[in-house]
Amino acid sequence: MKRHLISTADLTREDALLILDTAEQMAQVSARSVKKLPTLRGRTIVNLFFEDSTRTRTSFEVAEKRLSADVINFSAKGSSVSKGESLKDTALTLQAMGADAVVIRHGASGAPKLLADSDWLHGSVVNAGDGTHEHPTQALLDAFTMRRHLNPGVGHDLAGRRVTIVGDVLHSRVARSNVHLLHTLGAEVTLVAPPTLMPFGVETWPCQTSYDLDAALNKADAVMMLRVQRERMNAAFFPTQREYTRRYGLDARRLALMPEHALVMHPGPMVRGMEIESDIADSARAVIVEQVANGVSVRMAVLYLLLGGSEPAITTSSSEETGK
Ligand code: NCD
Repeated sequence: MKRHLISTADLTREDALLILDTAEQMAQVSARSVKKLPTLRGRTIVNLFFEDSTRTRTSFEVAEKRLSADVINFSAKGSSVSKGESLKDTALTLQAMGADAVVIRHGASGAPKLLADSDWLHGSVVNAGDGTHEHPTQALLDAFTMRRHLNPGVGHDLAGRRVTIVGDVLHSRVARSNVHLLHTLGAEVTLVAPPTLMPFGVETWPCQTSYDLDAALNKADAVMMLRVQRERMNAAFFPTQREYTRRYGLDARRLALMPEHALVMHPGPMVRGMEIESDIADSARAVIVEQVANGVSVRMAVLYLLLGGSEPAITTSSSEETGK
């Protein structure tokens, strides 16, 4: 593993499997009554969030605390950070405070890479979502969730599994990170979006594309619905919400077109009634809540591998192992 996690495109198949396998070990910790490992005791991790976020920031915070790290939440919303200089000043401040790792979410694509490439910070940088670029830990938790259902086992990948990703691909860092990672793990990805929400240059990505959702459902092993990211839209990308839902929303009729075993996924936050019908989101086919739980295990694995060094991830005392 490298020192930073900026993009899933940087991960080899071996890196990705190491993270997923380590996350399986971390999941065992989360299943105990005492959900804590001493691994990152004395290390300081800063959550530097320049954009609204509840689930991702909380998920990182829970992961950090389960590894016994000292956690600082640095919410920079509202400050003027679009300029390189102020990001630099923030970074220098965090460095002076002794940050061993910075988990950064930023509205500007490329901000985490700027930090990682700078000499402002000496610790690890983890990208928690940058603009419309990448959200690598989300893709890792999605792959972890798919592997558990579709090809469970340590060392297993997603070879030959078919994943359909639907919706606002243009603005989705989740889609970008997933396309790279799923391709690396051997899965076949199809992106489905209205032509206006399909990214420019998508033909160079390692995936198929389609404008027809119904046609992309019957062979899917997993269908991932994306949120329509209105906050990033500076124009009208579709006529009406009703029209969008009719063509690209997941409803009962479309669920019936999917194979019995196929998973319904969503990174959250969901806009119920828009990209996904409320009943479908709550149905037994949906693994959306599992995705959230798995997010903690995957983030623990990433932080452990970036910061923990060579110590074994889990040194269980026998009483914990036997549950006594
Ligand atoms: C995603 C994000 O922020 O990119 N959400 C998240 O990580 N909780 C997806 C989204 O906002 O739609």
